[in-house]
Amino acid sequence: MSSCIRSVVTGVGDYLPARVVTNDDLAKVVDTSDAWIVERTGIHQRREAGDGETTSDLATRAADRALAHAGRTPADVDLIIVGTTTPDLTFPAVATQVQRKLGCPVGIAFDVQAVCSGFVYALATADNFVVRGQSKCCLVIGAETMTRLMDWTDRTTCVLFGDGAGAVVLEPRPGEGTTADRGILGVALRADGTKQDLLYVDGGPSTTGTTGKLRMQGNQVFRNAVVNISEAVVASARAAGVALEEVDWFIPHQANQRILEGVARRLGIDERRVISTVAEHANTSAASIPLALAQGVADGRIKPGQLLLIEAMGGGLTWGAAVLRL
Ligand code: COA
Repeated sequence: MSSCIRSVVTGVGDYLPARVVTNDDLAKVVDTSDAWIVERTGIHQRREAGDGETTSDLATRAADRALAHAGRTPADVDLIIVGTTTPDLTFPAVATQVQRKLGCPVGIAFDVQAVCSGFVYALATADNFVVRGQSKCCLVIGAETMTRLMDWTDRTTCVLFGDGAGAVVLEPRPGEGTTADRGILGVALRADGTKQDLLYVDGGPSTTGTTGKLRMQGNQVFRNAVVNISEAVVASARAAGVALEEVDWFIPHQANQRILEGVARRLGIDERRVISTVAEHANTSAASIPLALAQGVADGRIKPGQLLLIEAMGGGLTWGAAVLRL
């Protein structure tokens, strides 16, 4: 086996805004019930960013914690990539705002727009910078204020989403070129722009000049999600050279408990190896995977050296998966 450079996750961090919104709270706003939401989605509550609290605020807090966990400081960071679909402003990127708020030196900073797949896309992008020697210390962040994109008269969407942020620090480490290496071992990214109408926001700078609201054909998204995610999971494992049975933890995008279960059933994955935070966080889009990762690390389930598989699907449609050893 030949030696190589691997991008290794050396720290994780998360941040959830303080305000908890329960299903009963939403039942006062739209014609819904706790029982319907729990049965169809597994969601019990979500967090909502406070007045004046922005995506870059959430991202900065999560990044700060990830740096502390990695034993790094803002001065070490040379690359920041934020997966987000809810930037504070149309521009500049959330990543440059995080850079400013943390006090990182001049480096590379930009956002990745792949909606709920944003973290998988951002991590895959960062991996390419790291293995080519273009970054020694990278922050990869998923951060969202999805509640700000909701149509609060549409019960089919507004009950599903929440706000939050998660971050990882990625650093180069020498590897042997084997699946025993720490780091990102395999990636599969996909997009199909013909399915735009299934999940999109009906506004933007070059159309309406407004931010717009999220629109979704939920049952169509559901069907596409199980099939597409399953394919990407298999492809990422093949790219990594590992069997699904070797994976210690599956960390899915947290859209709906029934999607998590549908993918696990289709691939024969034991649900006890799936990290689920959807009950407490709801769908935080690009933030959901790093949030679930940070939670699994914090509660001691996910341990250094274990093999992880992350996967997601989102608007675009975009989807993807990645295999990494922590
Ligand atoms: N409360 C009560 N009833 C609701 C409701 C709510 N919040 N939302 C929808 N309903 C109703 C619908 O109006 C419909 O009523 P009708 O039969 O009288 O027309 C009924 O429930 C069934 O709607 P349907 O959309 O077929 O339900 P579903 O079983 O597909 O569940 C979702 C809806 C949204 C939960 C489900 O489709 C889903 O999770 N899809 C994936 C969404 C997702 O994760 N998107 C993000 C991907 S990144």
